[in-house]
Amino acid sequence: MSKPTLLVTGGAGFIGSNFVLAQRSADRARIINLDKLTYAGNLANLEELRDDPHHVFVHGDIADRELLRRLFREHRPHAVVHFAAESHVDRSIYGPDAFIQTNVVGTFHLLEETRRYWEGLEDHKRKRDFRILLVSTDEVYGSLGPEDPPFRETTPYDPSSPYSASKAAGDHLARAYYRTYGLPVLITNCSNNYGPYQFPEKLIPLMILNALEGKPLPIYGDGLNVRDWLYVKDHCDALSLVLERGRVGETYNIGGRCEKTNLEVVRTLCRILDEMRPESPNVPHQKLITFVKDRPGHDRRYAMDCTKIMEELDWRPRYGFEEGLRKTIEWYLDHPHWVASVKSGEYRNWIQHHYNLPPTP
Ligand code: NAD
Ligand code: TYD
Repeated sequence: MSKPTLLVTGGAGFIGSNFVLAQRSADRARIINLDKLTYAGNLANLEELRDDPHHVFVHGDIADRELLRRLFREHRPHAVVHFAAESHVDRSIYGPDAFIQTNVVGTFHLLEETRRYWEGLEDHKRKRDFRILLVSTDEVYGSLGPEDPPFRETTPYDPSSPYSASKAAGDHLARAYYRTYGLPVLITNCSNNYGPYQFPEKLIPLMILNALEGKPLPIYGDGLNVRDWLYVKDHCDALSLVLERGRVGETYNIGGRCEKTNLEVVRTLCRILDEMRPESPNVPHQKLITFVKDRPGHDRRYAMDCTKIMEELDWRPRYGFEEGLRKTIEWYLDHPHWVASVKSGEYRNWIQHHYNLPPTP
């Protein structure tokens, strides 16, 4: 059988590019990659696929209905995998507009055009096997207390930030499309990812790059907020499984069973860097840790119950936290050109503005 075609949105971002690279390296699917190339999207992530005839990059917005219609008509995808989003909580606090536009309105347009295409499919098998997978987050469930059980797929949504509220809205729309129109929707809610190609405004890559440069490591509040961490390749494996074997209309939680306080994460990262760069004048890197003002509405704890995907689809994370973190740090050390290219004007502006630093010359 010939390879299926996937329409991937946001495939030039962190998780999307890891997913696309994994699909192509296993030659599992032909990819139509639609990405707006916001500050977080980067064609350098897809450099390996430059000459790959089975990867088609399309520069555009998921809210562009004409473009979506043309892509569905020309490429006739077997499935859609929807990563495209504004994804950074702190940015959503300063400027929620783009989050509503892409994560809610954009997702709505994508659902509408997907429905139109799917309803028009004449081939019975093609129509029966079609899927749209929404890649969502554990943040839609809100915040847990220290003794609360982890989030389950049945936990009511209770988002705290404009980011998580906009993702929740996208998930609700998708579920409504399944119930109302029968659109074959799948939703995954995953915990915090880390790994190669993550834009360095998120905790782990920000701390790696700051530590390497001897800059302060800014910890919000008391540093005791808890996140569940998952190496990005484990997330991508889970997404492939859900796409292939997940039950339509269902939600699957994905996580690393790896709860850590932010302080633990940063201390572990510093210890690994001390080992990898013993000659650095910044050893011990822990001395760079600085406590800064807390994020407004900062969720205290996230934790995921992943029993469903483990039992139904036999998925397990393959990378332990330290192993994944070492691989991630090595990747940033081995890719100075990528790092230099993303630390452009936009990145510098954000860091100066958010951490209240003086402008650099
Ligand atoms: P990212 O910010 O690195 O990438 C987002 C990508 O979407 C970028 O390439 C960007 O250019 C593109 N994009 C943004 N707006 C667009 C639009 N209107 N049209 C087309 N493309 C657009 O994000 P990420 O960390 O890779 O996250 C991907 C998805 O996974 C998001 O939906 C996010 O909510 C979800 N998620 C992320 C995490 C995490 O820890 N990073 C965890 C769980 C779920
Ligand atoms: P982040 O990577 O922004 O992911 P999310 O907010 O989606 O969980 O942040 C992870 C945790 O790290 C979160 O509790 C906020 C905290 N954090 C800091 O303490 N300092 C920082 O500079 C950043 C970016 C995050």
